[in-house]
Amino acid sequence: MTSERPQVVAHRGASDREPEHTLAAYLQAIELGADALECDVRLTADGHLVCVHDRTVNRTSNGTGIVSTLELAQLEGLDWGSWKKLSRAQGDLSTEAPDVVSMSDRSHLLTARKLFSVVADLNRPVQIAVETKHPTRYGGLVERKLLQLLKEFGWDQHTPERPSPVRMMSFSALAVRRMRALAPTLSLVYLVERRMPVAMLDQQVPAGVAIGPDVELLAQNPRLGERIRARGRDLHVWTVDTPEQVRVCLDAGASVIISNRPAETRKTLNEM
Ligand code: G3P
Ligand code: CA
Repeated sequence: MTSERPQVVAHRGASDREPEHTLAAYLQAIELGADALECDVRLTADGHLVCVHDRTVNRTSNGTGIVSTLELAQLEGLDWGSWKKLSRAQGDLSTEAPDVVSMSDRSHLLTARKLFSVVADLNRPVQIAVETKHPTRYGGLVERKLLQLLKEFGWDQHTPERPSPVRMMSFSALAVRRMRALAPTLSLVYLVERRMPVAMLDQQVPAGVAIGPDVELLAQNPRLGERIRARGRDLHVWTVDTPEQVRVCLDAGASVIISNRPAETRKTLNEM
């Protein structure tokens, strides 16, 4: 996989130009040619998986409160788009964005189910990298809910005969191990933001699980990528928004580049 061009994943959708985690951000990313979509999921009080990064709704909606204490209907009553000053209006984008989204796509809460159904209906393959948030709380409920949803779409197994477009990512080794036990063939990524001995990765997560380091960690440790890959693990690097960071990923042999600016990142990759 590393001899090929890395896959470009739209982090929270095309989140440089549309409100993160809205359908607008994902439709824009698909239109701009992203290979995959990154999406954080949280549980609502009534057990739905919603696409929200933060623990609270405060930063990305017009409401206040903790996501997991609110019900789906309460979250759906909020405006998830008006906090974002659209970059396009500011005229600071280097790649022209096609106008494929509506105002309602920009303001509505997105559920994981809706995102999956949009991807299922596309006429080209697009993958989804689902990051489970608050994974250690609720004793694995988030992973079980995700598995239930994957089963609804027939995406709970990843085999040559039946490939799944979804992979699961987490900063929690426990969550990754839980998911491996629940869905042994699903692709998994263990996210890493702090320095740790590479050998320790093998104690933390099973063989075959990819490693997702912060790009800054790779930049500070130029041999880290090679050492992770030598252990038979793919590299999924985040969050990569500048040509210098793309260079770091290529030098490290990354398979996957996760970017807030998928179009610009693809352009940079094509020029390198
Ligand atoms: O893709 C991994 C990256 O999203 C992890 O950081 O905080 O943006 O979820 P965060
Ligand atoms: Ca994330």
